[in-house]
Amino acid sequence: MTELKNDRFLRALLKQPVDVTPVWMMRQAGRYLPEYRATRAKAGDFMSLCKNPELACEVTIQPLDRYPQLDAAILFSDILTIPDAMGQGLYFESGEGPRFRKVVNTLADIEALPVPDADKELGYVMEAVRTIRRELNGRVPLIGFSGSPWTLATYMVEGGSSRDFRKSKAMLYDNPQAMHALLDKLARAVTAYLNGQIRAGAQAVQIFDSWGGALSAAAFQEFSLRYMRQIVDGLIREHEGRRVPVILFTKGGGLWLEAMAESGAEALGLDWTCDIGSARARVGAKVALQGNMDPSVLYAKPAAIRAEVARILAAYGEGSGHVFNLGHGITPEVDPVHAGAFFEAVHELSAAYHR
Ligand code: CP3
Repeated sequence: MTELKNDRFLRALLKQPVDVTPVWMMRQAGRYLPEYRATRAKAGDFMSLCKNPELACEVTIQPLDRYPQLDAAILFSDILTIPDAMGQGLYFESGEGPRFRKVVNTLADIEALPVPDADKELGYVMEAVRTIRRELNGRVPLIGFSGSPWTLATYMVEGGSSRDFRKSKAMLYDNPQAMHALLDKLARAVTAYLNGQIRAGAQAVQIFDSWGGALSAAAFQEFSLRYMRQIVDGLIREHEGRRVPVILFTKGGGLWLEAMAESGAEALGLDWTCDIGSARARVGAKVALQGNMDPSVLYAKPAAIRAEVARILAAYGEGSGHVFNLGHGITPEVDPVHAGAFFEAVHELSAAYHR
Protein backbone atom coordinates (compact mmCIF):
# COMPACT_ATOMS: atom_id res chain seq x y z
CA MET A 1 0.00 0.00 0.00
CA THR A 2 1.21 3.52 -0.81
CA GLU A 3 2.50 5.78 1.95
CA LEU A 4 0.07 8.55 3.01
CA LYS A 5 1.47 11.93 1.97
CA ASN A 6 -0.94 13.90 4.18
CA ASP A 7 -2.14 12.18 7.36
CA ARG A 8 -3.06 15.20 9.49
CA PHE A 9 -6.76 14.22 9.40
CA LEU A 10 -5.99 10.77 10.90
CA ARG A 11 -3.50 12.29 13.35
CA ALA A 12 -6.03 14.84 14.63
CA LEU A 13 -8.63 12.10 15.17
CA LEU A 14 -6.10 10.33 17.40
CA LYS A 15 -5.12 13.63 19.07
CA GLN A 16 -1.54 13.36 17.80
CA PRO A 17 0.30 16.64 17.04
CA VAL A 18 -0.44 18.36 13.70
CA ASP A 19 0.98 21.46 11.94
CA VAL A 20 -2.42 22.98 11.12
CA THR A 21 -6.02 21.94 11.86
CA PRO A 22 -7.18 19.50 9.16
CA VAL A 23 -10.32 20.33 7.21
CA TRP A 24 -12.89 18.55 5.04
CA MET A 25 -16.55 19.25 4.43
CA MET A 26 -19.68 17.11 4.58
CA ARG A 27 -21.16 16.84 1.03
CA GLN A 28 -17.91 18.23 -0.39
CA ALA A 29 -18.72 16.50 -3.70
CA GLY A 30 -22.16 17.80 -4.59
CA ARG A 31 -24.44 20.09 -6.46
CA TYR A 32 -22.69 23.37 -5.52
CA LEU A 33 -19.85 22.26 -7.89
CA PRO A 34 -20.47 22.68 -11.65
CA GLU A 35 -18.08 19.79 -12.37
CA TYR A 36 -20.23 17.53 -10.14
CA ARG A 37 -23.39 18.53 -12.00
CA ALA A 38 -21.66 17.74 -15.32
CA THR A 39 -20.62 14.23 -14.18
CA ARG A 40 -24.07 13.54 -12.74
CA ALA A 41 -25.61 14.52 -16.09
CA LYS A 42 -23.21 12.09 -17.79
CA ALA A 43 -24.32 9.32 -15.38
CA GLY A 44 -28.01 10.11 -15.97
CA ASP A 45 -29.15 10.36 -12.35
CA PHE A 46 -27.84 10.28 -8.79
CA MET A 47 -28.14 6.52 -8.11
CA SER A 48 -26.53 5.66 -11.47
CA LEU A 49 -23.64 7.90 -10.40
CA CYS A 50 -23.36 6.04 -7.06
CA LYS A 51 -23.45 2.66 -8.84
CA ASN A 52 -20.70 3.54 -11.36
CA PRO A 53 -17.33 3.16 -9.54
CA GLU A 54 -15.36 5.16 -12.15
CA LEU A 55 -17.75 8.12 -12.03
CA ALA A 56 -18.14 7.90 -8.24
CA CYS A 57 -14.34 8.10 -8.07
CA GLU A 58 -14.31 11.08 -10.43
CA VAL A 59 -16.71 13.14 -8.29
CA THR A 60 -14.94 12.10 -5.06
CA ILE A 61 -11.69 13.60 -6.40
CA GLN A 62 -13.22 16.75 -7.95
CA PRO A 63 -13.25 18.83 -4.74
CA LEU A 64 -9.62 17.77 -3.99
CA ASP A 65 -8.49 19.00 -7.39
CA ARG A 66 -10.30 22.29 -6.91
CA TYR A 67 -9.26 22.87 -3.29
CA PRO A 68 -5.67 21.84 -2.47
CA GLN A 69 -6.31 22.48 1.26
CA LEU A 70 -8.69 19.52 1.71
CA ASP A 71 -7.17 16.99 4.12
CA ALA A 72 -9.53 14.07 3.44
CA ALA A 73 -11.66 12.56 0.69
CA ILE A 74 -15.09 11.08 1.43
CA LEU A 75 -16.44 8.20 -0.60
CA PHE A 76 -19.13 9.40 -2.98
CA SER A 77 -22.22 7.34 -2.22
CA ASP A 78 -25.32 7.61 -0.06
CA ILE A 79 -26.52 6.26 3.28
CA LEU A 80 -29.60 4.79 1.56
CA THR A 81 -27.57 2.16 -0.35
CA ILE A 82 -28.28 -0.27 2.53
CA PRO A 83 -32.11 -0.14 2.41
CA ASP A 84 -31.80 -0.26 -1.39
CA ALA A 85 -29.72 -3.45 -1.10
CA MET A 86 -32.35 -4.85 1.31
CA GLY A 87 -34.84 -4.70 -1.56
CA GLN A 88 -36.70 -1.50 -0.65
CA GLY A 89 -36.33 -0.06 -4.19
CA LEU A 90 -34.73 3.37 -3.71
CA TYR A 91 -35.39 6.11 -6.24
CA PHE A 92 -35.01 9.88 -6.33
CA GLU A 93 -37.85 12.05 -7.64
CA SER A 94 -36.26 15.23 -8.98
CA GLY A 95 -36.36 17.94 -6.33
CA GLU A 96 -38.25 15.63 -3.95
CA GLY A 97 -35.51 13.72 -2.17
CA PRO A 98 -35.34 9.94 -1.69
CA ARG A 99 -38.34 7.57 -1.98
CA PHE A 100 -38.82 3.82 -1.52
CA ARG A 101 -41.08 1.59 -3.58
CA LYS A 102 -41.50 -0.79 -0.59
CA VAL A 103 -42.14 0.51 2.92
CA VAL A 104 -41.59 -1.31 6.25
CA ASN A 105 -44.82 -1.47 8.29
CA THR A 106 -44.90 -4.66 10.37
CA LEU A 107 -42.68 -7.11 12.24
CA ALA A 108 -43.28 -9.57 9.38
CA ASP A 109 -41.88 -6.99 6.91
CA ILE A 110 -38.81 -6.61 9.14
CA GLU A 111 -38.28 -10.36 9.51
CA ALA A 112 -38.39 -10.72 5.73
CA LEU A 113 -35.59 -8.16 5.19
CA PRO A 114 -32.25 -9.71 4.19
CA VAL A 115 -28.92 -8.51 5.66
CA PRO A 116 -27.12 -7.56 2.43
CA ASP A 117 -23.70 -8.98 1.60
CA ALA A 118 -21.19 -6.12 1.38
CA ASP A 119 -19.33 -7.81 -1.47
CA LYS A 120 -22.40 -8.78 -3.49
CA GLU A 121 -25.40 -6.42 -3.43
CA LEU A 122 -23.14 -3.62 -2.21
CA GLY A 123 -20.12 -4.70 -4.24
CA TYR A 124 -20.34 -1.52 -6.34
CA VAL A 125 -19.55 0.53 -3.22
CA MET A 126 -16.51 -1.65 -2.40
CA GLU A 127 -15.34 -1.29 -6.00
CA ALA A 128 -15.72 2.51 -5.73
CA VAL A 129 -13.60 2.49 -2.52
CA ARG A 130 -10.83 0.46 -4.23
CA THR A 131 -10.92 2.69 -7.31
CA ILE A 132 -10.73 5.88 -5.24
CA ARG A 133 -7.82 4.57 -3.13
CA ARG A 134 -5.92 3.70 -6.31
CA GLU A 135 -6.64 7.13 -7.81
CA LEU A 136 -5.78 9.03 -4.59
CA ASN A 137 -2.42 7.29 -4.50
CA GLY A 138 -1.79 8.39 -0.88
CA ARG A 139 -2.71 12.05 -1.42
CA VAL A 140 -5.10 12.19 1.57
CA PRO A 141 -6.98 9.54 3.61
CA LEU A 142 -10.33 8.22 2.38
CA ILE A 143 -13.35 8.32 4.68
CA GLY A 144 -16.00 5.60 4.39
CA PHE A 145 -19.48 6.09 5.87
CA SER A 146 -22.88 4.72 6.68
CA GLY A 147 -26.13 5.97 8.17
CA SER A 148 -26.92 5.03 11.77
CA PRO A 149 -29.53 2.29 12.25
CA TRP A 150 -32.09 4.79 13.62
CA THR A 151 -31.56 7.23 10.73
CA LEU A 152 -31.88 4.43 8.15
CA ALA A 153 -34.96 3.06 9.94
CA THR A 154 -36.75 6.42 9.65
CA TYR A 155 -36.37 6.37 5.85
CA MET A 156 -37.45 2.72 5.62
CA VAL A 157 -40.56 3.15 7.77
CA GLU A 158 -41.59 6.57 6.41
CA GLY A 159 -40.85 5.57 2.81
CA GLY A 160 -38.66 8.66 2.35
CA SER A 161 -37.76 11.91 4.09
CA SER A 162 -40.01 13.09 6.90
CA ARG A 163 -40.61 16.28 8.84
CA ASP A 164 -42.07 14.73 11.99
CA PHE A 165 -41.12 11.00 11.82
CA ARG A 166 -44.77 10.18 12.46
CA LYS A 167 -44.71 6.51 11.41
CA SER A 168 -41.27 5.67 12.79
CA LYS A 169 -41.97 7.24 16.18
CA ALA A 170 -45.39 5.59 16.36
CA MET A 171 -43.69 2.23 15.74
CA LEU A 172 -41.02 3.00 18.35
CA TYR A 173 -43.66 3.63 21.05
CA ASP A 174 -46.44 1.23 19.92
CA ASN A 175 -44.23 -1.67 18.99
CA PRO A 176 -40.75 -1.23 20.44
CA GLN A 177 -40.07 -4.92 19.82
CA ALA A 178 -40.51 -4.44 16.06
CA MET A 179 -38.37 -1.30 16.09
CA HIS A 180 -35.63 -3.14 18.00
CA ALA A 181 -35.76 -6.00 15.50
CA LEU A 182 -35.33 -3.52 12.64
CA LEU A 183 -32.50 -1.64 14.39
CA ASP A 184 -30.66 -4.85 15.26
CA LYS A 185 -30.86 -6.02 11.66
CA LEU A 186 -29.65 -2.64 10.43
CA ALA A 187 -26.78 -2.61 12.96
CA ARG A 188 -25.62 -5.97 11.59
CA ALA A 189 -25.94 -4.70 8.02
CA VAL A 190 -24.05 -1.46 8.81
CA THR A 191 -21.25 -3.37 10.60
CA ALA A 192 -20.74 -5.67 7.59
CA TYR A 193 -20.96 -2.70 5.20
CA LEU A 194 -18.39 -0.57 7.07
CA ASN A 195 -16.05 -3.54 7.54
CA GLY A 196 -16.32 -4.14 3.79
CA GLN A 197 -15.37 -0.50 3.16
CA ILE A 198 -12.44 -0.78 5.59
CA ARG A 199 -11.16 -3.95 3.89
CA ALA A 200 -11.54 -2.21 0.51
CA GLY A 201 -9.42 0.72 1.76
CA ALA A 202 -11.46 3.23 3.83
CA GLN A 203 -9.02 4.71 6.38
CA ALA A 204 -11.62 6.22 8.76
CA VAL A 205 -15.39 5.81 8.96
CA GLN A 206 -18.20 8.16 9.90
CA ILE A 207 -21.65 7.15 11.08
CA PHE A 208 -24.28 9.73 10.09
CA ASP A 209 -26.98 9.79 12.77
CA SER A 210 -28.78 12.62 11.04
CA TRP A 211 -32.06 12.14 12.91
CA GLY A 212 -30.86 10.97 16.35
CA GLY A 213 -31.49 14.50 17.60
CA ALA A 214 -35.20 14.15 16.87
CA LEU A 215 -35.50 11.60 19.72
CA SER A 216 -36.09 12.17 23.44
CA ALA A 217 -33.02 11.73 25.65
CA ALA A 218 -34.25 8.31 26.80
CA ALA A 219 -35.19 7.14 23.29
CA PHE A 220 -31.85 8.36 21.90
CA GLN A 221 -30.01 6.07 24.33
CA GLU A 222 -32.22 3.07 23.72
CA PHE A 223 -32.93 3.34 19.98
CA SER A 224 -29.96 5.17 18.49
CA LEU A 225 -26.81 5.23 20.64
CA ARG A 226 -27.14 1.60 21.72
CA TYR A 227 -27.00 0.41 18.09
CA MET A 228 -24.15 2.73 17.17
CA ARG A 229 -22.22 1.22 20.09
CA GLN A 230 -23.03 -2.27 18.78
CA ILE A 231 -21.56 -1.24 15.41
CA VAL A 232 -18.39 0.29 16.90
CA ASP A 233 -17.87 -2.95 18.88
CA GLY A 234 -18.02 -4.96 15.66
CA LEU A 235 -15.75 -2.84 13.48
CA ILE A 236 -12.24 -3.66 12.28
CA ARG A 237 -10.15 -1.18 14.28
CA GLU A 238 -6.68 -1.75 12.73
CA HIS A 239 -6.01 -2.07 9.01
CA GLU A 240 -2.86 -1.71 6.88
CA GLY A 241 -0.95 -1.26 10.16
CA ARG A 242 -2.95 1.81 11.24
CA ARG A 243 -5.83 2.57 13.57
CA VAL A 244 -9.11 3.09 11.68
CA PRO A 245 -10.81 5.93 13.59
CA VAL A 246 -14.59 6.08 13.92
CA ILE A 247 -16.52 9.38 13.95
CA LEU A 248 -20.08 9.49 15.35
CA PHE A 249 -22.14 12.39 14.10
CA THR A 250 -25.52 12.84 15.74
CA LYS A 251 -27.13 16.00 14.43
CA GLY A 252 -28.79 17.63 17.43
CA GLY A 253 -26.82 15.40 19.83
CA GLY A 254 -25.09 18.23 21.73
CA LEU A 255 -26.82 17.42 25.02
CA TRP A 256 -25.65 13.79 24.96
CA LEU A 257 -21.93 14.11 24.22
CA GLU A 258 -20.82 12.43 27.47
CA ALA A 259 -22.76 9.26 26.66
CA MET A 260 -21.55 9.31 23.06
CA ALA A 261 -17.95 9.72 24.20
CA GLU A 262 -18.29 6.34 25.98
CA SER A 263 -19.22 4.56 22.73
CA GLY A 264 -15.69 3.55 21.76
CA ALA A 265 -15.57 6.01 18.83
CA GLU A 266 -12.43 8.14 18.47
CA ALA A 267 -14.32 11.31 17.55
CA LEU A 268 -17.69 13.03 17.74
CA GLY A 269 -19.12 15.27 15.03
CA LEU A 270 -20.78 18.45 16.30
CA ASP A 271 -23.50 20.47 14.63
CA TRP A 272 -23.38 24.27 14.94
CA THR A 273 -25.76 24.53 17.90
CA CYS A 274 -23.05 23.63 20.42
CA ASP A 275 -20.03 25.65 21.48
CA ILE A 276 -16.97 23.60 20.57
CA GLY A 277 -14.98 24.97 23.54
CA SER A 278 -17.62 23.76 26.03
CA ALA A 279 -17.83 20.43 24.17
CA ARG A 280 -14.05 20.05 24.51
CA ALA A 281 -14.24 20.78 28.24
CA ARG A 282 -16.92 18.09 28.60
CA VAL A 283 -15.49 15.25 26.48
CA GLY A 284 -12.16 16.41 25.01
CA ALA A 285 -10.14 14.08 27.23
CA LYS A 286 -11.93 11.06 25.72
CA VAL A 287 -12.56 11.94 22.07
CA ALA A 288 -11.52 14.26 19.25
CA LEU A 289 -14.12 16.71 17.93
CA GLN A 290 -15.18 17.44 14.36
CA GLY A 291 -17.06 20.55 13.28
CA ASN A 292 -18.85 22.81 13.63
CA MET A 293 -19.43 25.87 11.45
CA ASP A 294 -23.04 26.62 10.48
CA PRO A 295 -23.22 25.73 6.74
CA SER A 296 -25.21 28.96 6.20
CA VAL A 297 -22.09 30.99 7.02
CA LEU A 298 -20.96 30.03 3.49
CA TYR A 299 -23.73 32.26 2.08
CA ALA A 300 -21.86 35.25 3.59
CA LYS A 301 -18.80 36.92 2.04
CA PRO A 302 -15.24 35.55 2.50
CA ALA A 303 -14.38 38.11 5.24
CA ALA A 304 -17.31 36.92 7.36
CA ILE A 305 -16.44 33.27 6.71
CA ARG A 306 -12.90 33.94 7.87
CA ALA A 307 -14.13 35.66 11.04
CA GLU A 308 -16.33 32.68 11.89
CA VAL A 309 -13.47 30.23 11.29
CA ALA A 310 -11.30 32.36 13.62
CA ARG A 311 -13.99 32.30 16.30
CA ILE A 312 -14.36 28.50 16.19
CA LEU A 313 -10.58 27.92 16.23
CA ALA A 314 -10.27 30.19 19.27
CA ALA A 315 -13.18 28.42 20.99
CA TYR A 316 -11.47 25.02 20.53
CA GLY A 317 -8.12 26.47 21.64
CA GLU A 318 -4.61 25.09 21.46
CA GLY A 319 -3.50 21.61 20.56
CA SER A 320 -4.65 18.69 18.44
CA GLY A 321 -7.96 16.79 18.51
CA HIS A 322 -9.96 19.11 16.23
CA VAL A 323 -10.98 18.32 12.65
CA PHE A 324 -12.57 21.39 11.10
CA ASN A 325 -15.84 20.78 9.24
CA LEU A 326 -19.27 22.27 8.82
CA GLY A 327 -21.96 21.33 11.34
CA HIS A 328 -23.90 19.64 8.49
CA GLY A 329 -23.60 19.30 4.70
CA ILE A 330 -22.92 22.19 2.33
CA THR A 331 -26.05 23.32 0.46
CA PRO A 332 -26.32 23.45 -3.36
CA GLU A 333 -26.71 27.25 -3.52
CA VAL A 334 -23.25 28.06 -2.04
CA ASP A 335 -20.70 29.82 -4.28
CA PRO A 336 -17.70 27.45 -4.71
CA VAL A 337 -15.38 30.44 -4.16
CA HIS A 338 -16.78 30.75 -0.63
CA ALA A 339 -16.00 27.09 0.11
CA GLY A 340 -12.41 27.80 -0.98
CA ALA A 341 -12.22 30.82 1.35
CA PHE A 342 -13.39 28.56 4.19
CA PHE A 343 -10.65 25.91 3.63
CA GLU A 344 -7.91 28.56 3.22
CA ALA A 345 -8.93 30.31 6.42
CA VAL A 346 -8.78 27.06 8.42
CA HIS A 347 -5.18 26.33 7.41
CA GLU A 348 -3.95 29.93 7.62
CA LEU A 349 -5.50 30.81 10.96
CA SER A 350 -4.95 27.48 12.74
CA ALA A 351 -1.13 27.28 12.58
CA ALA A 352 -0.98 29.56 15.64
CA TYR A 353 -2.78 26.89 17.72
CA HIS A 354 -0.24 24.13 16.95
CA ARG A 355 3.15 25.55 18.01
O1 CP3 B 1 -20.34 14.06 2.04
C1 CP3 B 1 -20.14 13.67 0.88
O2 CP3 B 1 -19.73 14.42 -0.02
C2 CP3 B 1 -20.32 12.20 0.56
C3 CP3 B 1 -21.53 11.84 -0.12
C4 CP3 B 1 -22.83 11.81 0.63
C5 CP3 B 1 -24.09 11.99 -0.03
N1 CP3 B 1 -25.09 11.72 0.87
C6 CP3 B 1 -24.26 12.37 -1.42
C7 CP3 B 1 -25.56 12.88 -1.86
C8 CP3 B 1 -23.11 11.51 1.96
C9 CP3 B 1 -22.16 11.29 3.12
C10 CP3 B 1 -24.53 11.43 2.08
C11 CP3 B 1 -25.20 11.06 3.34
C12 CP3 B 1 -26.66 11.18 3.45
N2 CP3 B 1 -27.60 10.88 2.50
C13 CP3 B 1 -27.33 11.50 4.63
C14 CP3 B 1 -26.68 11.76 5.95
C15 CP3 B 1 -26.02 13.07 6.00
C16 CP3 B 1 -26.94 14.20 6.27
O3 CP3 B 1 -27.06 15.06 5.38
O4 CP3 B 1 -27.48 14.26 7.38
C17 CP3 B 1 -28.71 11.46 4.37
C18 CP3 B 1 -29.82 11.80 5.35
C19 CP3 B 1 -28.87 11.05 3.03
C20 CP3 B 1 -30.13 10.78 2.30
C21 CP3 B 1 -30.26 11.66 1.13
N3 CP3 B 1 -29.49 11.55 0.00
C22 CP3 B 1 -31.13 12.75 0.98
C23 CP3 B 1 -32.11 13.22 2.04
C24 CP3 B 1 -30.87 13.29 -0.29
C25 CP3 B 1 -31.60 14.41 -0.96
C26 CP3 B 1 -30.92 15.66 -0.51
C27 CP3 B 1 -31.31 16.85 -1.34
O5 CP3 B 1 -30.82 17.93 -0.94
O6 CP3 B 1 -32.02 16.72 -2.35
C28 CP3 B 1 -29.82 12.55 -0.87
C29 CP3 B 1 -29.22 12.79 -2.19
C30 CP3 B 1 -27.76 13.09 -2.21
N4 CP3 B 1 -26.80 12.40 -1.53
C31 CP3 B 1 -27.13 14.08 -3.02
C32 CP3 B 1 -25.74 13.96 -2.81
C33 CP3 B 1 -24.64 14.73 -3.47
C34 CP3 B 1 -27.81 15.03 -3.99
C35 CP3 B 1 -28.23 14.21 -5.15
C36 CP3 B 1 -28.19 14.97 -6.45
O7 CP3 B 1 -27.11 15.03 -7.05
O8 CP3 B 1 -29.26 15.46 -6.83
